[in-house]
Amino acid sequence: MNVDGKRWRTIWLGDDGWSVEIIDQTRLPHAFTVVRLTTLEDAARAIRDMQVRGAPLIGATAAYGLALAMRADASDAHLKEAYAVLALTRPTAVNLRWALDRVRGVLASRPAHARAETAYAEAARIADEDVATNEAIGKFGFDLIRDVARLRAGMPVHILTHCNAGWLATVDWGTATAPIYMAHDAGIPVHVWVDETRPRNQGAALTAWELGHHGVPHTVIVDNAGGHLMQRGLVDMVIVGSDRTTATGDVGNKIGTYLKALAAHDNGVPFYVALPSSTIDFSISDGLKQIPIEERGGDEVAWISGATEQGDVARVRLVPEGTYVANYAFDVTPARLVSRLITERGVIPATREAIARAFPERVVAS
Ligand code: MRU
Repeated sequence: MNVDGKRWRTIWLGDDGWSVEIIDQTRLPHAFTVVRLTTLEDAARAIRDMQVRGAPLIGATAAYGLALAMRADASDAHLKEAYAVLALTRPTAVNLRWALDRVRGVLASRPAHARAETAYAEAARIADEDVATNEAIGKFGFDLIRDVARLRAGMPVHILTHCNAGWLATVDWGTATAPIYMAHDAGIPVHVWVDETRPRNQGAALTAWELGHHGVPHTVIVDNAGGHLMQRGLVDMVIVGSDRTTATGDVGNKIGTYLKALAAHDNGVPFYVALPSSTIDFSISDGLKQIPIEERGGDEVAWISGATEQGDVARVRLVPEGTYVANYAFDVTPARLVSRLITERGVIPATREAIARAFPERVVAS
């Protein structure tokens, strides 16, 4: 997408043709910085420290991480070690394992001297497919927004989103934001309510940044405002992304998503989940029991960072010293609260049957 008139993806190969470059998302919105990854450990750290984040981008970065590892040492032992290192970086987004399995799968039959080239090619395919997939999600989601716009007779369609499921969370387009960008670009008036998304503020820092750079009207709200806005008829639809969705349609996503789904349900507001099929974990069917929920360090809750009036970035403590803090990063929204899934193969009910019909080749025997 566009940043000051220049087109960017979130991950690409450097001019040397082998290093991997990313946008450091921990520094946004205050600084736009490109970071060069040259080793397996660089890639693992970028995912672990959330310089890259968002399920699809985590997957693409992990794929390139395996390529960097194979460039250094293409032995079976190193492939095994690199897979393990990357797989342990973050637990919830299933795209990570999906991408690692895909690259490892194509490497298995390759001789050591050809492995690096094969891994780079597969990582590039994963990245390109992510862009095409999100574009397809955008086209299907566009129809939903256009239908509401027809009823609004020129008034903006108000869409609430949580966390950042924008182009920064993917290779390009985003999942939840793809339909929004397409509607905006087609001249449909849209306005986005952006949940700030504590504790890491992906909404306030990242979604607001990217929507702003694309010129999409938006307003940042505190995480607790969504229900109030829905009660007053100020939300036409909710669109969120997902980090892992079960074969039965339970949606794992950023902490707080479940509460938005409850409020949407209570107020008759459609609750859509936009996701590529790489985010569906076909091996599990009970989200509450089987989606691993990442618990992160308490400092993310106890401290907050932002720009001072002087323009420096500062970090300040929010809670009394010594206070016990819990930091659950994701929650699970049961399928019954999901109006529809917006996938690259269409808008489908969040049910085992509909998911299996849309992606028959991915179904695994239970
Ligand atoms: O912890 P993060 O920032 O990696 O979590 C990402 C999210 O939860 C996104 O909102 C999302 O919907 C999944 S990525 C499209």
